Amino acid sequence: MILEAPPKPETPDSLSLLVERLDMFEATDLADLCEATDAAILSLLAEWEEPLTAPMYAQVRYHMGYADPTARPGKRMRPLLGLLAYSALAPDWERALPGAVAVELGHNFSLMHDDIEDGDRERRGRPTLWVRDGVAQAINTGDALFTVSRVALHKLTALGFSDARVIRLMKLYDETCLRLCEGQFIDIAASAKSEMQSVEHYFEMIGRKTAALISGSVESGAILATDDEETIERFRTFGWALGLAFQINDDLLGIWGDEAATGKAPSDLARHKKTLPVLYAVEHAAGEDLATITRLYATESPDEGLVAAGLDVLERLGARSYTREQAALWRERAISEIRAVSALNPHAITRLEEIIEQVYASGERALVFTHFAEWGQKLAAHLSSRFEVPVGCYHGGLSRGARDALVTEFQALDGPGALVLSLK
Ligand code: IPE
Ligand code: IPE
Ligand code: MG
Ligand code: MG
Repeated sequence: MILEAPPKPETPDSLSLLVERLDMFEATDLADLCEATDAAILSLLAEWEEPLTAPMYAQVRYHMGYADPTARPGKRMRPLLGLLAYSALAPDWERALPGAVAVELGHNFSLMHDDIEDGDRERRGRPTLWVRDGVAQAINTGDALFTVSRVALHKLTALGFSDARVIRLMKLYDETCLRLCEGQFIDIAASAKSEMQSVEHYFEMIGRKTAALISGSVESGAILATDDEETIERFRTFGWALGLAFQINDDLLGIWGDEAATGKAPSDLARHKKTLPVLYAVEHAAGEDLATITRLYATESPDEGLVAAGLDVLERLGARSYTREQAALWRERAISEIRAVSALNPHAITRLEEIIEQVYASGERALVFTHFAEWGQKLAAHLSSRFEVPVGCYHGGLSRGARDALVTEFQALDGPGALVLSLK
């Protein structure tokens, strides 16, 4: 009996790496995860809505993109990450939905307030809520979004998660939101000052305002799925690196983004945002170029001509390609973290155990191939403690011929046993 895991894709991105781990045993469609998250958000809002307050919930639905079928919703990246992290470690991803709902609503609370703070008039291709209904209502509805995001987590208790696990998650969530507010503080303070911030300061800022929530979203999924602290830590670090990559990329969009694709006009230069391309340009500019950037950042409401001159300097000094490289670097780090996760999907293990039990009953030998060394080692250790039969484990590079010879030799042995091969 030979069981084989699918081969690794050549150039996987971070999301598909998580999906790949999951797909080893169970096909899951990302659209299903998004749909389930949206349905859970809508049903939570409906629980609280009354005729008197219905317009406030309608404001939430407007911002989220639920109000009309043609409205553009968000990408739902944070709930997807949480649900995938959970699924990589445990079955029944539906149980993790309240965590996914919390991070998506929390993200949207931060955006609703961020648009007031940044003075942005559009998001996801439509007027921001403060433009449509006024700043006072947008502050309050943002607060409501934050509060509903915490209320979502209360649902975990009814789904059978222990109080200790729910409290751990709430602590993580509250601390994450506090970090996010700290990041926004640093961002707003830096924009108001005339001097540029250091690159170190920039990373402190984006770590808090963006990576904290992305990392928290991934970690939430892991916390709900496992008690293994090492695995939780790996997922957390993966999310952090991914979050940095994500914000660096968002900073590219904040200067060079295409409005039709992003749903908002790029405003970071005019708003004096001290983002990575600008910091790089200032470090490398001299003479006229430096004077142009300094003038742009010292002018209260710069006109289009001054913004275009600044853009020209940034492009010429290579700020755009440098920023792209930085985003790629953090993305690579994220990928290497997730590759190191030795996710043991209990569902997969149960299925493997069933198969192997049949194999043993018939006195056969089981051979398991996997491409993940750590996974292979854990599986072998698990099998040998679970069954009183010899279990071997081999990890390394093998030529096709050597591999076939090993398999033939193994199958020719007498009696039941298992061999786990994790091949490079
Ligand atoms: C935008 O996040 C804000 C940042 C943290 C950069 P997203 O790009 O994930 O926003 P939506 O939800 O998909 O619109
Ligand atoms: C994103 O800040 C972080 C938060 C909203 C917490 P930005 O101001 O850079 O995000 P966008 O570009 O407006 O989405
Ligand atoms: Mg903004
Ligand atoms: Mg902002």
